Amino acid sequence: MPAERRIAVLLLASTLAALGLAGVYIAGGQPQAEGALLGVALAGIGFALILWARGLSSEGAVVAERGPLGGTVEDEEAVEERVEEVTEEPGRRSVLRLFWAAGGALALSAVFPIRSLGPAPGNALLRTAWRPGSRLMDTDGRLVRVDTLQVGGTLTAFPQGAEKAGDSSVILIRLEEGQLQPRPGRESWSPRGYVAYSKICPHVGCPVGLYQADTHELLCPCHQSTFDVLDGARPNFGPATRSLPQLPLAVDPQGFLIAQDDFDEPVGPGFWNRD
Ligand code: FES
Repeated sequence: MPAERRIAVLLLASTLAALGLAGVYIAGGQPQAEGALLGVALAGIGFALILWARGLSSEGAVVAERGPLGGTVEDEEAVEERVEEVTEEPGRRSVLRLFWAAGGALALSAVFPIRSLGPAPGNALLRTAWRPGSRLMDTDGRLVRVDTLQVGGTLTAFPQGAEKAGDSSVILIRLEEGQLQPRPGRESWSPRGYVAYSKICPHVGCPVGLYQADTHELLCPCHQSTFDVLDGARPNFGPATRSLPQLPLAVDPQGFLIAQDDFDEPVGPGFWNRD
């Protein structure tokens, strides 16, 4: 089989495989089939390039005696005709078109996986399920009342109606009234000594759930970061460098603990637009 034909077969196979890859992906995907088709598409182009380089771009070493420079008008015309013949060679042009087709099909099949990136997150990383007036609910599904905890007590709470929202979990602690040193602007966030902090460690996101009442410290079990509860959950030991976000609390007229609003900063480990 001539080299051009073998190259054409390889490129045709590559094109069909690339289109098949796109089709399989659109139909829902099948990793083994996608891998096989991608392999055929790449191998087809690769082997075609090898054959093309060997067979078409070079026909081996040619040695010609060098005659006297110059020539007659007939000679010049003959050379021009030959040059035109070579540049018009149909086999080579067809092969180049097939290369373009195979490369285009492969590029097209590579575009579809962009769909796998999913929808843009929007501000989902900046918000949790807490809303103004959300009542606090413990892990047993009971609403938290103002008399639920004794001083020194703790519990894990979620917003009512969003008990599965992991990014919204808080550790609620009851302190002696007046013990907390609220940060500026947070004076009204801890009614009756209740204070709530995000349970998600700002280091790499483990749940911060161990409270040492004697030192008023929260401990992250993963890498032993500790947070000073009386000082806005500022880290005072370990690899965490940011305070736990504080949830602004209030008490509604029925005596239930509620959130004044969402956290005023993103919870969890830092991400790209944070200092
Ligand atoms: S995840 Fe909390 S200290 Fe590392």
